[in-house]
Amino acid sequence: MNFSNQHILSTELFERSDLERLFKIADQMQPYARRESANHVLDGAILSNMFFEASTRTRISFSSAFQLLGGKVNETTGIEHSSIIKGESLYDTARVLSGYSDVIVMRHPEPYSVGQFAKASRVPVINAGDGDNEHPTQALLDLYTIETEIKRHGTNLDDLRIALIGDLKYGRTVHSLCALLCHYRHCCVKLISPSALAMPVEQVEALRKAGLEVVIAEHMHPHIEDVDIVYATRIQEERFENDAETNAYQSLYSLNASIYTRHCSPNTVIMHPMPRNSMQKTSELEDDLNEHPNLAIFRQADNGVLVRMALFALIFDVANQLSQHESPLSWRARRQDKPSKT
Ligand code: NCD
Repeated sequence: MNFSNQHILSTELFERSDLERLFKIADQMQPYARRESANHVLDGAILSNMFFEASTRTRISFSSAFQLLGGKVNETTGIEHSSIIKGESLYDTARVLSGYSDVIVMRHPEPYSVGQFAKASRVPVINAGDGDNEHPTQALLDLYTIETEIKRHGTNLDDLRIALIGDLKYGRTVHSLCALLCHYRHCCVKLISPSALAMPVEQVEALRKAGLEVVIAEHMHPHIEDVDIVYATRIQEERFENDAETNAYQSLYSLNASIYTRHCSPNTVIMHPMPRNSMQKTSELEDDLNEHPNLAIFRQADNGVLVRMALFALIFDVANQLSQHESPLSWRARRQDKPSKT
């Protein structure tokens, strides 16, 4: 794919070679993301970060990624603080905002709304989550994380065994991830959910058509016993019709240290797109695994910055110019001289 000036609305866009290219560039972003040196390759460019639905990681990591490449960021959060609440259409919003920006990142509660918005935009639009439909950049960073994590144990994406657990019906991250997994061979994907929250048939059919082994189950055991990755997800209660439905599924799956130690193989990597829901009796991924070396959720969140930097570099067609726009960070050297205060 030619990424230059391209909207990123769905994982369907990506071929395997695109993923490989993106991940190689994400690796090159490490020194800038770690603040070892600065990069100004997007100097003068403006990102409009439009989040019409709750977000912490996605919004801040898009913003960090753009600023780490030298760009500037404008933001709106919440429908109630934008003119959409006054009845403004996506068309008008897109026409106006694209006059103020060089790229737009947008999250919206309605499925396919970001695609509709992109039709009226004059600059590239990146889908940061459209209702229960897709979350393509989360899937990209998830796949990058999976590859990085399993490589340490001598496994590669073509032999991946993964269990996706929880709300697979409304969880947009797993919809997008399944689409990307279709590019790999010999994989086994275990879809673990209550039947009412099962993965939509289109995604299951796509996995099978791509030749992947698909296992559909309602219980974690014994399915979490022989996988490289367990990928837990939050019950997407904001998409439910009523509280009764929410209560029926909350706390149904809970991965904790005792279950992990008893049932998972020692190399199984634990992932979750986050946020974990810590308001319930039990979380889908308990805190007692926080110090476990195989818990990759914070590395996964960190990787979001690298992958989003790589995506911006490709959309702006500057991936080959990174080294020409590097400079040292003077504050960094000064800070390293002094011990941090406790
Ligand atoms: C996810 C989302 O918004 O779809 N969060 C994220 O972007 N990392 C998952 C979730 O909200 O459960």
